[in-house]
Amino acid sequence: MDSISIAATDRVFVLTGAGISAESGLPTFRDSDGLWAGYRIEDVCTPEAWQRNPAGVWAFYSARRAAAQQAKPNPGHLALAELESRLPERFFLCTQNVDDLHERAGSVNLLHMHGELAKSRCENDCGAPPVEDHAVYASLSDVGRCACGGLLRPHIVFFDEIPLGMERIEREILRATLMVVVGTSGSVYPAANFVHWARQNGARTVYVGPEAPLNAAAFTHVVEGKAGEALPGLFVVEA
Ligand code: APR
Ligand code: ZN
Repeated sequence: MDSISIAATDRVFVLTGAGISAESGLPTFRDSDGLWAGYRIEDVCTPEAWQRNPAGVWAFYSARRAAAQQAKPNPGHLALAELESRLPERFFLCTQNVDDLHERAGSVNLLHMHGELAKSRCENDCGAPPVEDHAVYASLSDVGRCACGGLLRPHIVFFDEIPLGMERIEREILRATLMVVVGTSGSVYPAANFVHWARQNGARTVYVGPEAPLNAAAFTHVVEGKAGEALPGLFVVEA
C-alpha cells in the first residue's frame, strides 16, 4: 500500500482535475464518456461560442450546474480536506474543477483557476465582480443583466481566456516542497506545467489517478488508483 510522508517542514500544493469528481458522478472531459465526447469545445467553451450562441453556452453550463448541485463530495475530496486540517498554514489546493465539491468536503485554502459553476459574471469588462448564482436557466430570457447592460455569463474560464489566480498559484508553487496532482490528464496549460515548475524547485511530485497523465515523466512518484480509493490514508504526516 502506497504512503506519502509529509515532514514537519513540508509545504503541500495540491492540484486537482475532473478525475477527483468522477466518483461523485460528474463526468470528466477526455475519458471516453467525457463531456468533450458529447459537446464541441468551440460550441460551448470559447469567447466566440459566447458571442455566437449565448443560449447554447448557458444550456451547457446550466446542465453542469444542476448536475453539480445533485452531486456529493466523495472520499477523495474528504481526504484532501482532512489532510488540510492536519497541515494548518502549509496546505494549498488549486483546482481546475468548477464544481464546489472541495468546499462542501471542507477544503478552505482553495483556488478555482478555471472559475466556478455556482457564480456568474457580466460579459463586459465593466469591473463588476462575479455574483453567486445557482439558477438553472431554461432559456436566455431568464438570464439577468449587469447594471452596465451586459448579459450575465457563466463565471468559467473559456479556452483562450486567462486562468484565475495565477500570481497566487506561482507564489505557492515556489514555496511548495511537495506537489500532489490528482485526476487530471495533463492536457491543458498552464496547469499541466505546474509539476515541471515544482520539480525545478526541487519539490517531490506525486500523481494520483487510474492512468498515466500526459506529463507522467515529471512525477517522482505515481499512485495508481481512483482518487476516492487511493487518497484516504495515503498521507503520513510526521510530527
Ligand atoms: N480518480 C482519479 N482520476 C480519475 C478518475 C478517478 N476516479 N477517473 C478518471 N480519472 C482521470 C483520468 O484518467 C484523466 O487523467 O482524470 C483525468 C481527467 O482528465 P480530463 O478529462 O482531461 O480532465 P482535466 O484534466 O481536469 O481537464 C483539464 O480541461 O476542458 C478543460 O477546463 C477544462 O478544467 C478542465 C481542463
Ligand atoms: Zn457589466
